[in-house]
Amino acid sequence: MRIGLLTSGGDCPGLNAVIRAAVLHGEKSFADEFVGFRGGWRGLIEADYFPLSRHDVRGISRNGGTILGTSRTHPYNHPQGGPENIIATMKAHDVDAVIAIGGEGTLAGAKRLADDGVPVVGVPKTIDNDLKATDYTFGFDTAISIATDAMDRLRTTGESHHRAMVAEVMGRHVGWIALHSGMAAGAHAILIPEQRVSMDQICEWTEQVHSRGRSPLIVVAEGFIPEGAEEALAGKGVEDSGRPRLGGIGEWVTAQLEERTGIETRNTTLGHIQRGGNPTGYDRVLATRFGMRAMDLVHEGAWGHMASLRGTEILKVNLEEALDGLKEVPLSRYEEAKILFGR
Ligand code: F6P
Repeated sequence: MRIGLLTSGGDCPGLNAVIRAAVLHGEKSFADEFVGFRGGWRGLIEADYFPLSRHDVRGISRNGGTILGTSRTHPYNHPQGGPENIIATMKAHDVDAVIAIGGEGTLAGAKRLADDGVPVVGVPKTIDNDLKATDYTFGFDTAISIATDAMDRLRTTGESHHRAMVAEVMGRHVGWIALHSGMAAGAHAILIPEQRVSMDQICEWTEQVHSRGRSPLIVVAEGFIPEGAEEALAGKGVEDSGRPRLGGIGEWVTAQLEERTGIETRNTTLGHIQRGGNPTGYDRVLATRFGMRAMDLVHEGAWGHMASLRGTEILKVNLEEALDGLKEVPLSRYEEAKILFGR
């Protein structure tokens, strides 16, 4: 078979490990040929691709980013998009199947295309870890590692100045990055979109720690909504897809803390650092296993399905299971972390 690979949506470390694994498994086990579509769905729609062989993917697992490039193009919103055009393009360029590596938006597009007859399978990707039907997505562990290191650094400078330190992390509308990196860094408060908290309570946690001579660390997810607010702060306009660009809550919490407690407070918004650099070993292994499983799905003809992690097993799940809402942080996990807030 001749198989096309594409990476779509926000990039993250691990994408290249998926690409390498799929190509190597496909070549060695099935004598498949590969092409790489540039810039996500756009490359498929516009037939913008290049041949991929084992020589093109050797050693790329450790490299962050994606050798294919990515975009937030939606397969049905592009002027030449839609299943008929995509099927025609695949036939014209002798592509038998597509492996789409992406997050919620990408996989929703893949599911719709599969329902419309396009031979496509998915691989779940996002640093947010907000996809259902898989315990983890690759990219998440690397983001946690980066954020934790950053918070460790914030703590030493905060301690030196006896300041409160706020760290804003990514994650869109779920708090997994904040929860895991906050716990790893020993944060004194972790603010996530799933749980509204008042500024009074945040001030109380902060003052409890500060009054003991320590430097409070407050980790806030970009999608956190403080009590009294209607929605997450999104003062940076909208993305191409029309999604509001989240961000700014860290500065807002910082200003509130200083004003209400008088404690000198500084904010650091980690931003795209969480998506950069090389993947952790965990993410390289997970991504490699996802890429290999995706190849098996192609040869099973399991269109509209994706690789999924359950425990330590890589399974096949229907994309609709991954798209039935966001995987939010359950109350039990928040309550567990909250025991360590403040004192
Ligand atoms: O979905 C991954 C993610 O990094 C989110 O956590 C973040 O809000 C968004 O992408 C940023 O998107 P962009 O890279 O388009 O600014």
